[in-house]
Amino acid sequence: MASLKDIVIVGAGGHAKEIAYLIEAINLEKPTWNLLGMIERDAQNIGKPCGKYSVIGDDTFFQKRYANLNVVVAIGQPQRVKQIYTSLQNEYPELLFPNLIFPTVQPGLREVAMGIGNIICEGNIFTTDIQLGSFNCLNRGNNISHDVKIGDFVTINPGVNISGGVVIESECLIGTGATILQYLTIGRGAVVGAGAVVTKNVSPSTTVIGVPAQPLKRKIV
Ligand SMILES: CC(C)(COP(=O)(O)OP(=O)(O)OC[C@H]1O[C@@H](n2cnc3c(N)ncnc32)[C@H](O)[C@@H]1OP(=O)(O)O)[C@@H](O)C(=O)NCCC(=O)NCCS
Repeated sequence: MASLKDIVIVGAGGHAKEIAYLIEAINLEKPTWNLLGMIERDAQNIGKPCGKYSVIGDDTFFQKRYANLNVVVAIGQPQRVKQIYTSLQNEYPELLFPNLIFPTVQPGLREVAMGIGNIICEGNIFTTDIQLGSFNCLNRGNNISHDVKIGDFVTINPGVNISGGVVIESECLIGTGATILQYLTIGRGAVVGAGAVVTKNVSPSTTVIGVPAQPLKRKIV
């Protein structure tokens, strides 16, 4: 039997538990990963439990140990995800960033092109001619239709409908239960609120909410 590959999760919150669950599901199908534990910024948290695992290191962990080490970042905020992956890639070029894909999703990915470091949880449905960049997190139960293009560092929360031909540029956050109608573009760094129905293109760095989705107006206090 091939030996298991060491992997660590950066982050130790609820999302990290979800990623541990994903890794365990992959191992049930085919023993692949040896999950060492979680990495957090603050050394004070070393030893803190995270589900069945615990925090095993802080930012300095990779200085001591990074040959053949696989890393996944379990944080929901796209700009922070980008910052962490970019600094890890620059500082530790030997780190590996695997695509982690829930086993039952795997067969549906035959017509999906993808980069590295993608997290694809249970119940995602993909059809055809889909492009996925790198370091995206697709949480549970999303529909991703024909000709959809997703950039890098995009977080898609559970239960999102992405219609055919939609473009989601890099660093967007799509809230749970949102629907994006066909052939629209969600501009770089935009946020689509939970439950929104997007009927028009969304400008970069804009937050939209509601049905139909409208830019979130901040109250001036
Ligand atoms: C849209 C969103 C990013 C706004 O967050 P925020 O900037 O912190 O905004 P606030 O929570 O301060 O809310 C601002 C106003 O918008 C309203 N609002 C927030 N999110 C909303 C949503 N999804 N739909 C409708 N209205 C919403 C709030 O009720 C508030 O209204 P008020 O000013 O009348 O009280 C956030 O609410 C959201 O939907 N995030 C996605 C969450 C998600 O997917 N969670 C699942 C995790 S797995």
